[in-house]
Amino acid sequence: MLDNTLLTREIAVPTLSGPNMAVEIAGIKMKNPLTVGSGTYGHHGNFNQFYSVESMGALVPKTIRNYQWPGNPAPRVHEVVAGLHSSVGIPSNDWETFISKDAKILQAFNLPVIQSVIGRTEDEYVELVEKCSDLGIFAGLELNLSCPNLKQGGLDFGYDPIAAERLIKRARRVTNLPIIAKLAPDYSSLLGVAKAVEAAGADAISLVNAPRAMCIDYKTRRPIIGNQIGALSGAAIKPMAVYMVWQLYRAVKIPLFGMGGISDYRDVIEFMAAGARAVAFGTINYVNPMALPMALDDLKRYLEEENIDDINDLVGSAHD
Ligand SMILES: Cc1cc2nc3c(=O)[nH]c(=O)nc-3n(C[C@H](O)[C@H](O)[C@H](O)COP(=O)(O)O)c2cc1C
Repeated sequence: MLDNTLLTREIAVPTLSGPNMAVEIAGIKMKNPLTVGSGTYGHHGNFNQFYSVESMGALVPKTIRNYQWPGNPAPRVHEVVAGLHSSVGIPSNDWETFISKDAKILQAFNLPVIQSVIGRTEDEYVELVEKCSDLGIFAGLELNLSCPNLKQGGLDFGYDPIAAERLIKRARRVTNLPIIAKLAPDYSSLLGVAKAVEAAGADAISLVNAPRAMCIDYKTRRPIIGNQIGALSGAAIKPMAVYMVWQLYRAVKIPLFGMGGISDYRDVIEFMAAGARAVAFGTINYVNPMALPMALDDLKRYLEEENIDDINDLVGSAHD
């Protein structure tokens, strides 16, 4: 899947002049609106492998649990037309390993780090929110209410406005950090859950997580992924994700992180026009690890050519 020819393009040296690229979302100051989708970048601490992580506006590392967890059985990923079918299942270190290893790496970065967390129960989420908050190294916490590949947690909250509201209310009581609720692309529950998390005190919403999906091997006539059910991400889901961002921009007042199939600067503009104040690069990181800095470069050029002084002017521009 990795396209090596894309790694050779030169990225322009950043200059101080030019359009304003900085955005503020939920009180988090980002020098540009680009971040990465949790779980799609920087595995095993390899954050600076292709470019400086500090060139992005914020970093969202892989979701963590409060305890060690092996994740789902292999195979976990399967490439499909215009996307990726996956079921990783949030493997996680225990808390002690997280603070002695991962947190130290994250702490050294000079950019806002938004840690994503998940639990099987409300108590597990809240305990982890409090512990992460007490570390004092994060700019915000993303509560993953939408992992499609778990038997417990995630969608138990993300499909249910009452459960989501209760959870965010409790999380709100144990942290002063910005709380970002990451929601599922579920047509029937999305608006209700979004309004519920806003009412409960969430500071922002990020959407979309990958929708549930399945691939069956025509030869064996059995599901391809070890977990049988997985997710679909990448370009295949982009129009659906843009629609959901557009819908939520009208339905809630809190700001939005948009994602789902973003691969270049044109997709960034699309999501921002739909209403996202910041955007995340996800599956594309597996195809072209340089996609984010390339898009940043192209975005600046686009704004200059269009005589737009401030990238914030793009936000919501698709609405009447
Ligand atoms: C292999 C893989 C692992 C992921 N892991 C997480 C995760 O740990 N936490 C999370 O909130 N989202 C996770 N996601 C979802 C992405 O962050 C993103 O929301 C989704 O894939 C849509 O964006 P994309 O189409 O650009 O990938 C994962 C996606 C993939 C493909």
